[in-house]
Order: sequence, then C-alpha cells, then structure tokens
Amino acid sequence: MRILYASSEVAPFIKTGGLADVAGSLPRALAEFPGNDVRVILPLYAGIGDDWRSQMTFVKYFYFQLGWRSCYCGLFELVRGGVTYYFVDNEAYFKRNGLYGHFDDGERFAYFSKAVIETPRQLGWSPDVIHCNDWETALIPIYLMEGRSRIPELSATKTVYTIHNIEYQGRYGNSILTEVFGLDYNGYFNEDLLSYYNDVNLMKGAIMSADYVTTVSPTYATELQYAFYAHGLEGVVAAQQHKIRGILNGIDTDVWDPSRDEKIPAKFSPDDLSGKWECKRKLQEQLGLNQDPNAVIIGSISRLVGHKGYDLITAAFDRIMAHPEVQFVLLGTGEWSFEEFFRNAQNRYPGRVSANITYSAPLSSAIYAGADLFLMPSVAEPCGLSQMIAMRYGTVPIVRLTGGLKDSVPSYNPVTEEGLGFTFGNINAEDMLSALDRALDAHRNTDAWQRLMQHDMQADFSWERSAQAYQDVYQHLFL
Ligand code: GLC
Repeated sequence: MRILYASSEVAPFIKTGGLADVAGSLPRALAEFPGNDVRVILPLYAGIGDDWRSQMTFVKYFYFQLGWRSCYCGLFELVRGGVTYYFVDNEAYFKRNGLYGHFDDGERFAYFSKAVIETPRQLGWSPDVIHCNDWETALIPIYLMEGRSRIPELSATKTVYTIHNIEYQGRYGNSILTEVFGLDYNGYFNEDLLSYYNDVNLMKGAIMSADYVTTVSPTYATELQYAFYAHGLEGVVAAQQHKIRGILNGIDTDVWDPSRDEKIPAKFSPDDLSGKWECKRKLQEQLGLNQDPNAVIIGSISRLVGHKGYDLITAAFDRIMAHPEVQFVLLGTGEWSFEEFFRNAQNRYPGRVSANITYSAPLSSAIYAGADLFLMPSVAEPCGLSQMIAMRYGTVPIVRLTGGLKDSVPSYNPVTEEGLGFTFGNINAEDMLSALDRALDAHRNTDAWQRLMQHDMQADFSWERSAQAYQDVYQHLFL
C-alpha cells in the first residue's frame, strides 16, 4: 500500500501538540507492514532547525496555481526510520514565527493542501491513500475531487481524514472560496461539501468528501454525535456515521521509556523502581519543593485552557492543597487568567507548588518521571497522550471519563486491584476531589500502590494495534 500522510506538524521536526506526536509515530508503525511505502509531507517552517535541514536533500521545484496566484513549491526530502519525509518549501507562507495564528492561515494551508495534491505527479508516484489530519489539511479531499481528472497519478487515490480536535474547524467567510482557494462556487459551495451557515467550513468539507473519517478514540467518535462535543458539526457527523470510526492513538514507546530515557536523572523499570524515587527527589530539588519523600506530587502538563479542565483545578485548588502531603507541579502556557492563578498559587504555597509557565521538553520528562499522580480532568479530550506517557513512567492518572481518557484509563478498584487510574464522570470539582481522595487513600497502601504503578508501566500503549486498525481502514477502501 502506498500511503501519503499529510500533517501540518510532525515530531520530531516541529511540534505544538499531540498531532505532531501522532504524525511522527503512526507512519513509522505503518511502514513496518510488509509492502507499505509510507511518505509524510509537511510544510518547511522557519522553526525546523538546521540539524534537520542539513540532513535534507533538494528534490525539485515547480509552480502551481492557487486561485489567481502562481505559487512556487520546493520539495526537500529526508528518509528516517523507513519513512520518506517531504518538506514543502515556500518562504512567503512558512518562513515566519510560529506555525499558526497568522492572518492568512486559510491561504497558507490551502496552499499546503494543494501542494500535497500536486506532489504525486511531480514525483511520478501514485499514492493509494492520502491520509490528512485536522482543519489544516482538510482541503485535500476537496482538491482531490478537482484534481483527479487532470492528474493521472491520482486517478484511483482514496482519502482518509482524521479529526484530532473538532474545536478547530477552519471557518471562513464564503468569499474565500474562489478568491483564495480557487474553487468554483457552483461546484463546492453547497450543503454536501463546504457550505456551513453560509460560511466555508473546511472540516465539514473533509468529513463530507473523504472516503473514510477517523477520530482518535472510540469514545470521542461516539461523543461527536452530541452538540456538546461536536461544536456545531454533530449533524454532519451523524449524517456520515457509516464511514466514521474511532481508533485510539498509541505513543512512541521507544521515545517514552523510563528504562532508556536519557532526559531523566535516573532510569527505572517495573522490576526496579528505585530510579523513580531518585527522579522524585531530583524534581523536588530542581523546582524548590520541600524535600520530602513522603509527599505526593501531583503533576499537570498541558495547554492552560478551559477544555483541559483548568476551571475545575482552579476552583478546587485550595481543597487539593488542604491535603498536607500534596505537592503540585504545573507545566504549560495558555490563558492569562490560569497562568496568573498558578503564579499566585506558587507564592501562596511556598515549597509545595511549582508553577512553570513555559513549554519545556526536558522538564516535562522530569515531571512524568518524578510525580506520583497525573491530573487530567479534561472537559473534552479526543485522545490525550500525556496520560499514557504518565502511566509508562509509573505516574498514576486522575482523569475525567471522556474521549481517549475513558478508553485508556480503566478505573482502579482497590479490592480487586484491577484498573489503572482514578476517574470521575461529571464536569464537577467535587467529583474530581473525590477521585483525588480515593487516589490518596490508595497511595497510603504502599505495596498495593507499587503494584498499581507496575501495572500502569506495563500497560500496552504501543502503536502496533492501532496501526493495524488504520491499515484495515485503508484496505477496506479497496474492497
Ligand atoms: C489533539 C487532541 C488530543 C489528541 C491529539 C492527537 O491534540 O486534543 O486529545 O491526543 O490531538 O491525536
């Protein structure tokens, strides 16, 4: 199977969120299947460093038409771990600070989507499947409809579209359609494709036109039928139910491995947890927390936004800290009010709260490794990778039962010792606090807690199973 995987971010080259992790690890897992030829395509952003650029080779350049604009498109190539990566070079669009948030994002990612459609002909390579992700590459199935007849390499190509987060849909006033996207009103501005309350909605267009749609957990696939989770696309999702499926993400178990991770101060494994205690000690030292081996460190690593559950955490914060053994470590940036709340909390609880209002890969590893509990009370969580990473490092999650959190964290039962974490259902600070109480109770039983940590570390969150599910989706399209 020849697979072209298109994503606006791909780890380890460039990352702002979980999409990059998936785009970094799923194609590598797919490349393991015999007969697969997997290639990944992404923009060549200014933020992609020289260490990567020096490993790229220039393939070719060409021009294509985007509306009335004739656009330059350079292609660079890098082969790594059995996967070929193509980097799309256009400095006008991508030589800027940051990945998103520019006034012309619609145009930038329309350009990228069109570049993905034009690339197979330039390579003389015919993909069986183009797999696209989130709003940034949502125009690919639409451009394929338009391009199929003029590009022989795409005459039999199918599309799969994955929703990583339905909150960001790519919605624009309808004048963008012909003026910027170069699409014809009569053909594309209708209820079956891009039109949405008289606007253009890219994610809707992809859900309608892709041959198959997936999302990143089975529970999120179900939740998307409800207005609360679908942000206005519930009707579209319901109408396309026959071709939608949820597949739980995995994590890259080579990267996230406490027995091999060079970024943490001491390595450890389920058989020997002593390194974990050393990581905890070092974390307290590094962050200026009280040096207390009996403290229970709660870690939280995320964008600081409402849907990640920070309203619950801030509302309940003083009651969380009312447990004298608790220390709280936060890492992330986001909404100003949350940033301020945690800066202030660090002052109010000296030696017990560490607020790190930044993004830092080394510190995130140190927290995964050194914390005891990982708090993730998301209002919505399509999949979530942090809870899986935390478990792999023996850090027990407290989660709300939504999306991928529900699918990856079965509730712990202290009697049977089944389950992997502490859970609650309602979006309610009281319920979150009671899950924390259960966690702290369980933590007092040292032997049982060690077994829980070991079970978490041994849980299988590798990509193998999920990659097989994607492979099945691709194959199903050709039956
Ligand atoms: C988005 C979702 C997150 C998911 C990730 C990868 O960031 O918000 O839940 O894990 O995509 O699919």
